[in-house]
Amino acid sequence: MIRALLFAACYALLASPAFGADESCFECHEKPAADGSFMPIVRAEQYAGGVHAALPCAQCHEARDGGFDVVPHDLVTQRTPECMDCHEDDFAAIAQETTRSVHAGGERPFTCSRCHDVHRMLRTPVDAPPAVRRELANGPCIDCHRDTVVEVGGREGATGVGVAHEWLPYADSHAIMRCIVCHSPVSEAGIHEVLGKDRTTRRCEQCHTDQSGLIDKFVGRDDRSSWITNPGLFEFAYVRGATRNRAVDSALIGLLLLTLAGVVAHAFGRAVLRRPESAPHVVRETVLYTLTTRLGHWINAALMLALMATGMRMHFGGREGALIGFESAFHVHNIVGAILVAVSVIFFVVHVVGGGARQYLTFREGHVRGGVAQAKWYLVGVFRGAPHPSHPSPERRFNPLQQTAYASLMWVTLPALLVSGVLLLFPATIPDEVFGVRGTWLVSTLHYLVSWAFVLFLAGHLYLITMGDRPWYGLTAMITGVHRHHEPAPAADESAADAESGADTESDCDAD
Ligand code: HEC
Ligand code: HEC
Ligand code: HEC
Ligand code: HEC
Ligand code: HEC
Ligand code: HEC
Ligand code: HEC
Repeated sequence: MIRALLFAACYALLASPAFGADESCFECHEKPAADGSFMPIVRAEQYAGGVHAALPCAQCHEARDGGFDVVPHDLVTQRTPECMDCHEDDFAAIAQETTRSVHAGGERPFTCSRCHDVHRMLRTPVDAPPAVRRELANGPCIDCHRDTVVEVGGREGATGVGVAHEWLPYADSHAIMRCIVCHSPVSEAGIHEVLGKDRTTRRCEQCHTDQSGLIDKFVGRDDRSSWITNPGLFEFAYVRGATRNRAVDSALIGLLLLTLAGVVAHAFGRAVLRRPESAPHVVRETVLYTLTTRLGHWINAALMLALMATGMRMHFGGREGALIGFESAFHVHNIVGAILVAVSVIFFVVHVVGGGARQYLTFREGHVRGGVAQAKWYLVGVFRGAPHPSHPSPERRFNPLQQTAYASLMWVTLPALLVSGVLLLFPATIPDEVFGVRGTWLVSTLHYLVSWAFVLFLAGHLYLITMGDRPWYGLTAMITGVHRHHEPAPAADESAADAESGADTESDCDAD
């Protein structure tokens, strides 16, 4: 009893003036009983942080003679007051909603306190740390639905969705949401109409777009005020298609349009300034690409195109009824990505072991000078019909500019793409926080930026292959393996001498 009084005195000093609880209760109810006997837990700290902190316990609990020192307590048999006994007007709309819930109409009335703990109900759950809020919101659902909803140990203590939710990829990532985000009507703000499995949405588009209706429920407030990103969402998660940075998107699309404009202007210049070939010419053929190189190129091209299409589909979310749904795009992207990883590993091994890496990584003397000459040719020479400054051979397929581009693309950008992609495939391996920012955000952003390097490359590449002596030579070379270029036809008596110096005469043979 003395201890109880001391305890009560301490609490009276520590607690806020509004704290109305009878502190003596916590001496027993704060923690599990030492002898392991049954003890319902009500924590002082949680009570003090809840909406009912100002209410004395006696407001709802009353004991007969001897009071609460008698254990088990001899409670006044009267029913403990329920939410609606005191909040009839405040929560009329919520009470109305619960009558439409799947839980309504069971034998036992499904009272509010089956999901809400009066002792720790929060005033503004939105502002509570996500883990606390999730525990309060999902804890009761999981307690009752443990058979179908298996707890998953995910990131940041997520309690997750299990067998009922096998259709959902990355269940433990999705478990950062409150169950009622999905299990309540998409279109309405209310969350108290819990939907059965037939009416619950399983459409990825309901969340993974910037138009998503469910995301507002997830965050609890609509906050799309910023043009940079969806800040409300950003605080909690990186949701593909919804947490977009519009400024970065616009800048990248602008860069692509600029590239395309440059290409069109260049092509126009070439068409207008093109000079008819003055001298008769012969076509020389060099075998430049082995069958393996060509196969590798086309397999890579197909995989990259599929990844770009499905990746952009997911990033830009896309409206309902797009050509390919988010879910299909997601699966195709993962499978194709895995194939690209395998193909690339083979590529790297074969190139390192077989020496092909030299094509990319060994820079010849005068590389910079050659690059400048090459750039000049693209900018000026090509319009004047000047000879090409560099000629491909099986040992040296790339001109200096190409070599720089391919070396960085294949040996820096591609590995960055693959590593970030693999991390996204196994998101549990990504740390929650890196340098103070969300890990998934960092990796996703890197992956996205790097993928744009390939999009921009493709735009330039498709144009540059038309730079041969005939616009289609670049393409046919990658199909047949034979590189063709034009040389002035030798005069009949000089043919022998000319064949020697043939490789250095006027020819446009930028093949790639
Ligand atoms: C001496 C320790 C002790 C103190 C002090 C105490 N309790 Fe309890 N209380 C218990 C134990 C033990 C139980 C579980 C008894 C059981 O049902 O087996 C319990 C159960 C309860 C229950 C659930 C009873 C039921 O039948 O469902 C309520 C409500 C309760 N206590 C309220 C209070 C309040 C309010 C106070 C303070 C005014 C308080 N208790 C102080 C030990 C204590
Ligand atoms: C606004 C009303 C209200 C107030 C105030 C209140 N309680 Fe309760 N309490 C309830 C209700 C309702 C239940 C029954 C919940 C249920 O049926 O699951 C309950 C149940 C309990 C139980 C049993 C919990 C269990 O798991 O079986 C304990 C112990 C308890 N209260 C302690 C306290 C203590 C201690 C305080 C003061 C610090 C307090 N209560 C204040 C409404 C209240
Ligand atoms: C015994 C009456 C009583 C019961 C039962 C009761 N409350 Fe309260 N509730 C109050 C009072 C009084 C306040 C105001 C407390 C204050 O302002 O400090 C309040 C405040 C709240 C608030 C904060 C309201 C606001 O506008 O910020 C919420 C939310 C709330 N109660 C929810 C519930 C829920 C949910 C239940 C049932 C699980 C419940 N209450 C049961 C009396 C009760
Ligand atoms: C099936 C479980 C369940 C039942 C039953 C239930 N609620 Fe809720 N309630 C929730 C969940 C989950 C939240 C969201 C908590 C959060 O946002 O973190 C919530 C939120 C609330 C809020 C916070 C304000 C808001 O609108 O977000 C109030 C108030 C509330 N409920 C009152 C009630 C009342 C009153 C009843 C009974 C008529 C009731 N609830 C019945 C699960 C339930
Ligand atoms: C991403 C959306 C989503 C989230 C989050 C979610 N669910 Fe579900 N849940 C569904 C869908 C869709 C179904 C229907 C599955 C089916 O058709 O079998 C379902 C089914 C269920 C079922 C019915 C199982 C059965 O077969 O009878 C229960 C119970 C359930 N969910 C509870 C929960 C709980 C509890 C949580 C939170 C821990 C939760 N759900 C989180 C979408 C979700
Ligand atoms: C007190 C235990 C309890 C709590 C808490 C509870 N449920 Fe239920 N739930 C049930 C029971 C029992 C049923 C079966 C009702 C029926 O089929 O008539 C059910 C049914 C469901 C169903 C329908 C399953 C189907 O077959 O279509 C869903 C979905 C569901 N609950 C989700 C939730 C969610 C989400 C929460 C938390 C917000 C929650 N439940 C909280 C006990 C509970
Ligand atoms: C109710 C909203 C919702 C629905 C429906 C939904 N998601 Fe998600 N998704 C989220 C949220 C929230 C995250 C967590 C983001 C985080 O952890 O930062 C997420 C994460 C993901 C992730 C990344 C996992 C990670 O940890 O990085 C993938 C992939 C994903 N969802 C795919 C899907 C697919 C495919 C579907 C449809 C079958 C789907 N989602 C349905 C909200 C949703």
